[in-house]
Amino acid sequence: MFLKGVLNKILQWPRLLKYRMLSTATISGSKPRINQPVLFNGVGQIFCGNNVSFGVGASPSFFSQYGYLEVRHTSAHITIGDNVAINNNCCFISNGAGITIGDYCCLGVNVTILDSDFHSLDPVARLNKRPGMNKAVIIGANVFIGNNVLILKGATIGDNSVVAAGSVVSKDIPSNVIAAGNPCEIKRELGPMES
Ligand SMILES: CC(C)(COP(=O)(O)OP(=O)(O)OC[C@H]1O[C@@H](n2cnc3c(N)ncnc32)[C@H](O)[C@@H]1OP(=O)(O)O)[C@@H](O)C(=O)NCCC(=O)NCCS
Repeated sequence: MFLKGVLNKILQWPRLLKYRMLSTATISGSKPRINQPVLFNGVGQIFCGNNVSFGVGASPSFFSQYGYLEVRHTSAHITIGDNVAINNNCCFISNGAGITIGDYCCLGVNVTILDSDFHSLDPVARLNKRPGMNKAVIIGANVFIGNNVLILKGATIGDNSVVAAGSVVSKDIPSNVIAAGNPCEIKRELGPMES
């Protein structure tokens, strides 16, 4: 077990270095624990609270892929609270409105969060490269987001809620519920004695 941990570190280290060298964005707040490579790009603000981690060795794609955070414009921002655990292959892209992830959230593999459509919905404007609408994404505290979840512009998720694997969140999910599906909808309220 110890040997496997050491081997993991030795094999991952060159990849971590490569993605660090390729990154253009700076991170304010505390230094996150980066287990899987993450590319931090853009000119906006990325803030990490205390004890934020990216990547899990005992999860898929740890050695083959990488996380991606982009703050595309100076007004763009991604704010991650304290004690947030983010599994492999996250993709968070802020075009301006901002992405906020609350304290104690845990995110599964392949979670994507976007605060913009990036391309106009109007066909002519789109041909003229007009950008799409931006709307902030706000995720509360202690939210559990399953694998392969996509969270779109303007979505909010309340404290303690669980978003089931494979969901597409495009609207507001309140606190203390389990929500699932595409579009992601409330399945039930969380009880006091959930396992
Ligand atoms: C949501 C989850 C936690 C299960 O919660 P649960 O309350 O035990 O689940 P239930 O089986 O009672 O499901 C409640 C309802 O949600 C539905 N549901 C559960 N998971 C779903 C999913 N991923 N997509 C769509 N619907 C889902 C169930 O079919 C059920 O629907 P119904 O009420 O219409 O019958 C689980 O399905 C899940 O998605 N876990 C995340 C796993 C994961 O990705 N972990 C991260 C590893 S790093």
